[in-house]
Amino acid sequence: MPSLFNVFARKSISDRKSTILSGKNGGKKVMKLWKFALVLATGLTFMGTLAFAAERDVNIPRVPPDQLDAAKAMKNPLPATPDVVAKGKAVFEGKGTCFTCHGMSGKGDGDAGKALDPTPRDFTNAKFHELRTDGEMFWVIKNGSAGTGMIQYNPTMINDEEAWQSIHYIRSLKGK
Ligand code: HEC
Repeated sequence: MPSLFNVFARKSISDRKSTILSGKNGGKKVMKLWKFALVLATGLTFMGTLAFAAERDVNIPRVPPDQLDAAKAMKNPLPATPDVVAKGKAVFEGKGTCFTCHGMSGKGDGDAGKALDPTPRDFTNAKFHELRTDGEMFWVIKNGSAGTGMIQYNPTMINDEEAWQSIHYIRSLKGK
């Protein structure tokens, strides 16, 4: 952020010089420019604070190493039919309350997720889908992801079947 600020600050200094050179109203224009620069800098600083929280590196599995093989081996017992995907969407946007953090879009931009660090996983990210098995997702829904806002949702909010359904729905968000 400081480097960006410098870029804008430098720009307004050069603008200021050219404004002074350009005529009698130069003084007023300079004031406007400095006010503009101040608003811009405040805005950028604010954006900087928001951008601070980020998603955790998708390359690192969420399941602890000693349980990873077993989790990966779990297969989704349900077929990815339109009916099952629709049921998963209903869980995601209803009973499971997943959308409050992961967003209706699945991009991790839900209202309740905005304050979380790490931020909720973006389910449209194709890389995420390549790296995770359904079994790993099931494990996370059942056990939570330690040290994050992703707590256990099965069996507290949803059952096994609904978890598998929601995973098929999450899969359908890939690349959207
Ligand atoms: C309170 C906010 C919140 C809610 C509600 C929530 N999640 Fe999450 N979820 C998170 C966060 C934060 C992460 C990122 C965790 C991490 O990076 O380890 C995450 C990550 C995940 C992951 C990916 C884990 C991985 O392997 O990277 C899955 C799958 C998931 N959530 C499924 C769900 C489902 C299904 C629901 C609804 C039943 C749900 N989440 C509800 C916050 C939430």
